[in-house]
Amino acid sequence: MRVAVLANLQKNAPTWPGMPKDRWDDLDSEETIQAIVTALESGGHEATFLEGNPTLFETLPRLNPDICFNICEGHFGDSREAQIPAVLEMLRVPYTGSGPLTLALTLDKPMTKRVLWYHQLSTPPFQSFERAHEPLDPDMVFPLFVKPSREGTGMGVSAESIVHNEAQLRTQLRRMFELYDQPILVERFIEGREVTIGLVGNLTAPAARRLPDDHEAPRISRGLHFFPPLEVDMSRYPEEEAGVYTSRIKTELVHTFHYLCPAPLPSDLIEELNWLAAATFRVTGSFDVGRIDFRLDANDNDKPYILEINPLPGLNPGYSDLPLEAAADGWTFEQLVNRILQEAIDRYGLEEANSPAG
Ligand SMILES: Nc1ncnc2c1ncn2[C@@H]1O[C@H](COP(=O)(O)OP(=O)(O)O)[C@@H](O)[C@H]1O
Ligand SMILES: [Mg+2]
Repeated sequence: MRVAVLANLQKNAPTWPGMPKDRWDDLDSEETIQAIVTALESGGHEATFLEGNPTLFETLPRLNPDICFNICEGHFGDSREAQIPAVLEMLRVPYTGSGPLTLALTLDKPMTKRVLWYHQLSTPPFQSFERAHEPLDPDMVFPLFVKPSREGTGMGVSAESIVHNEAQLRTQLRRMFELYDQPILVERFIEGREVTIGLVGNLTAPAARRLPDDHEAPRISRGLHFFPPLEVDMSRYPEEEAGVYTSRIKTELVHTFHYLCPAPLPSDLIEELNWLAAATFRVTGSFDVGRIDFRLDANDNDKPYILEINPLPGLNPGYSDLPLEAAADGWTFEQLVNRILQEAIDRYGLEEANSPAG
């Protein structure tokens, strides 16, 4: 098939005076894009990279792809990850991964948590702030964790994100509002291990963005392939990061990662994590691929808490979590990338449509 690889390269991103230096930390490198293009070619496809910005209105019709491999993070707006899929739907071009509704929802951590909360899925208690002086809900108990609502790659996350009292909370809120012009999320601080679950696949219907009434029903995760859990070994990172998976660890220190994959976890806990990952994938309406981040509460028997779902997980073959998890499962990077594409091809029924019999 002819595949357009749509992404936002760090080097193509707009710049302006006074721009925060971490502004484009979650955009992709040329190395990642090249690896994806090569992987798709090795899968027998013709693959071309196109920058996911307004130039697409010209470049996409010219290329006329059968399908797009979309990993655009977008540049501006509170639904920036949803913009390219929305345009592709308008142009009626198929693409990999989740659609606009899911990408807009999951970019916004508090909105996602409201959905998780409604379904009684375990996520830390939280309050979202629009101003630094708003009163703290009485049931929010210190220590708390402060982070931007709509960023990734640890942006705004540092040792100072953990706050132990009112004064620290207000200072950190003010700092976050100054740096990130968006609501700030305050959560109960979950002290404990850091685990992430990657998966590929699609739920078999009906998957109407809700949980089955019977929680034991196997269809909660039918159609999904879970990779082995990956644990970030926080004990191996500098002490000043305070056991938090910070922006510094995710950028400056990204090449010296300390991961345990498969994570040394008991099988019943892995089963519970996979169930929660599938439930999160389901209630957010995700497609094809995802990675769900957890913390295990050291003070409550390693009880898992969902922090977020990443429907566009990083795909750098050398250091991103998902490719490393796939590798721990015996998959090559080529297999991972081509499986994501195949999931979308199957979802759209493209092969039947193209086959002579179809
Ligand atoms: N409620 C919390 N309790 C403890 N640590 C947290 C909490 N929320 C986030 N963290 C830490 O911050 C990191 C980044 O948070 P996350 O919500 O996953 O955002 P990002 O989009 O930056 O990955 C987590 O991996 C974890 O180390
Ligand atoms: Mg995360």
